[in-house]
Amino acid sequence: MASHSNTGAARFLPVKRDLTELRHAAAGCRGCDLYRNATQTVFGKGPPGARFLLVGEQPGDQEDLRGEPFVGPAGRVLDRALAEAGIDREAVYVTNAVKHFKFEQLKSGQRGKRRIHRKPSVGEIMACRPWLEAEIDAVDPDVVVVLGATAARAVLGPGFQVTRRRGEPVECGEGRLAVATIHPSAILRADDREAAYAGFLADLEAAARAAPPARAR
Ligand code: URA
Ligand code: SF4
Repeated sequence: MASHSNTGAARFLPVKRDLTELRHAAAGCRGCDLYRNATQTVFGKGPPGARFLLVGEQPGDQEDLRGEPFVGPAGRVLDRALAEAGIDREAVYVTNAVKHFKFEQLKSGQRGKRRIHRKPSVGEIMACRPWLEAEIDAVDPDVVVVLGATAARAVLGPGFQVTRRRGEPVECGEGRLAVATIHPSAILRADDREAAYAGFLADLEAAARAAPPARAR
């Protein structure tokens, strides 16, 4: 990605870009202000060579504390849907568009001291994009699964509308395919959770079909 200023994650990228080196370097990233209040960088997780690379928005409260993506409530929805879609969770690399948790800390008295998720800005998404691009290059998946609008912005650009093109395999650069769907958190917030889940599952099934048959690698 062309960087037109010296802000953003690009200057923190290591020379050697395998997942181990990337993860190590990302732990020290100060490419935007989000590192200041979060507990730690939550880098992606999964095997190099995973056939599916899933991109969420940003770590949530539990992910921030544990240092792993999708280990909270959204992760449980995701795990269930992956299993039902026949996608082996062990063959999946999961990550987020933004690698630090952005939140608002409510003062004590207001519902305890809960940390409330805040949506990352376009500037933060762009600042963090070098990590995501490096992960996609390192993993070299068959299909990138884009979970929600923030991930779509990072992977497919500002013109892509998830609601219009979900479930449809689209090019995402270098001959790679992406399939977009809603974010699993949106299912938890939906009025009709069952319908939202069914749509999500159908999109993951479309992603599974978009992947070529397992190849030796
Ligand atoms: N939501 C996300 O987008 N990512 C996580 O890792 C957890 C919740
Ligand atoms: Fe770096 Fe991304 Fe964290 Fe910002 S959110 S400090 S760019 S890792």
